[in-house]
Amino acid sequence: MSEKVIDVQDAWRERALIDDAKYQEMYAASVSDPETFWAEHGKRIDWSTPFTKVKETSFAPGNISIKWFEDGKTNVAVNCIDRHLETRGDQTAIIWEGDDPNESKHITYRQLHAEVGRMANVLRNRGVGKGDRVTLYLPMIPEAAYAMLACARLGAIHAIVFGGFSPDSLASRINGCGSKVVITADEGLRGGRKVPLKANVDEAIKRVEKDLVEHVIVVKRTGGDVAMEPGRDVYYHEAAEQVTDDCPAEQVEAEHPLFILYTSGSTGQPKGVVHTTGGYLVYASMTHQYVFDYHDGDVYWCTADVGWVTGHSYIVYGPLANGATTLMFEGIPTYPSNSRFWEVIDKHNVNIFYTAPTAIRSLMGGGEGPVKKTSRQSLRVLGSVGEPINPEAWDWYYNVVGERRCSIVDTWWQTETGGILITPLPGATKLKPGSATRPFFGVQPVMVDAEGKELEGKCEGNLCIKDSWPGQMRTVYGDHERFEQTYFSTYKNLYFTGDGARRDDDGYYWITGRVDDVINVSGHRMGTAEVESSLVAHPKVSEAAVVGYPHNLKGQGIYAYVTLNEGLEGDDALRKELVTWVRKDIGPIASPDLIQFAPGLPKTRSGKIMRRILRKIAEDDFGSLGDTSTLAEPAVVDDLIENRQNRG
Ligand code: WTA
Repeated sequence: MSEKVIDVQDAWRERALIDDAKYQEMYAASVSDPETFWAEHGKRIDWSTPFTKVKETSFAPGNISIKWFEDGKTNVAVNCIDRHLETRGDQTAIIWEGDDPNESKHITYRQLHAEVGRMANVLRNRGVGKGDRVTLYLPMIPEAAYAMLACARLGAIHAIVFGGFSPDSLASRINGCGSKVVITADEGLRGGRKVPLKANVDEAIKRVEKDLVEHVIVVKRTGGDVAMEPGRDVYYHEAAEQVTDDCPAEQVEAEHPLFILYTSGSTGQPKGVVHTTGGYLVYASMTHQYVFDYHDGDVYWCTADVGWVTGHSYIVYGPLANGATTLMFEGIPTYPSNSRFWEVIDKHNVNIFYTAPTAIRSLMGGGEGPVKKTSRQSLRVLGSVGEPINPEAWDWYYNVVGERRCSIVDTWWQTETGGILITPLPGATKLKPGSATRPFFGVQPVMVDAEGKELEGKCEGNLCIKDSWPGQMRTVYGDHERFEQTYFSTYKNLYFTGDGARRDDDGYYWITGRVDDVINVSGHRMGTAEVESSLVAHPKVSEAAVVGYPHNLKGQGIYAYVTLNEGLEGDDALRKELVTWVRKDIGPIASPDLIQFAPGLPKTRSGKIMRRILRKIAEDDFGSLGDTSTLAEPAVVDDLIENRQNRG
């Protein structure tokens, strides 16, 4: 890996909120006395009842309890909208850029206030109130932000399901959180192609507990013909005509849940990550301001989808809490051409741009031409998130996209962390391509070895976090034990991230990727267990094991070893059939890239699949399989190597 160091440019430092000395000072204060630090920064949002308690947190075995600003009351929508009306009512809150380059609009804070009030009233009319769960299955249209904020206004809890998930995945999430109301659109539109959202909802509801879903609210996006079930389904624009846009906000306790977001883990089905109100908003807004060096008047664009945590914290909540102008993009980077990102930047004079390495890598493939034909002079800060950024992609982002004028912030965080934990700050941090660099305020990374021994100085190991920060998830919805088990049982008194990392002599962190059975495909998390259980549900499959392997564009690809039922032969047609099966079952992001038919899987004598060996073979690195002597049938390994799908 490159150990190149890029100094903070004078222009970045001069404009920045803080320089290195200030970072050092604030960081030291944040970890030596978190109470005082967060008591001060907790005031960055408005509270209807100010908090007197700041931090009540415990990572102790048997007592995992995380509470911030516990006795305060506030409302997230008021913080994201109402409090800006006096000073910036006519400023653009959201720039919406449609899939079609000829379609875009600006929504001011005042308009946002009215739209959110109206949507909140539509929900309230349908019995939605404090604590109720509402599932959102929406494309990237302004109504997605309105719906999130409308829930927040009522104290209802939204659970967004990414529009790329299948009806089955949607059904298990609706069931999981017990949503009585689903908000969707007739169809989504991405890269000129229609996504049948309403039809998927109909399919999903057939698989949901009977009579659970009472209302489906359908936003008209394409005007496509969809089935509407009388009494249950209503078009949003029709329901909206029946209500005013004035809806009082429900002030809720700081620890009242704001949203549930399902995410994949090492084992079992996705879990509902719960984020609450006060601490989450303080942390999302503070990181948004400092990490992107956001100044009033800047135009900020995060290309994520609101179906992922990045969209929650850094399209909607963080930016709007800061009174920012946030751009929301419906389309994809390659439509109508692979200049689209850069054209949108020029069209709206974007100053801060935040995307994923997978997008950068795919655009790199098209060469510099599509970038160079645009100006990009407005750009100042470039962000990266979702997976390790390889130094080649980093260099291209820095040299070609940013023309060596823009700072790069490689931000490491997770659905569970609510906001960015390890990242450079534009005016403060020297950059090393490929390194997420240093912790944000209040974050104490700890490196441990496999036995849980804390490592000092330069080292390589598993990344944990000591002590809580305000944006941390509070529990797994309905299953606090799973929360403790997943994150706090591997290493005592530490939050275990599931990531491996290296720490260098300067104390910089280099995230090396997941060390558990989660794979990261194009920046999206996928549990190998989920793909395996989908594969074994196929009538011809008897057993399956899924691992990740290095993939040029996606970061990691999905490699599936499949054992068929007695007497069956695998061929390309069956490969296709299995891929279609998984896509339909989970969603396109779970599609296996390579499928190897294996008569047997390497197992220990006690029957445990030795995934280490499968990973090595999938990586085409079978020269160093390590100890295979504990295998029940060592010969299966030869067959696996012989028939491997990923050949150098
Ligand atoms: C990975 C996305 C390296 C990591 C916000 C983490 C990263 C998982 C980075 C969380 C980064 C995210 N460098 N790896 N800058 N950012 N990751 O929950 O493995 O979708 O654990 O949250 O993505 O993915 P999630």
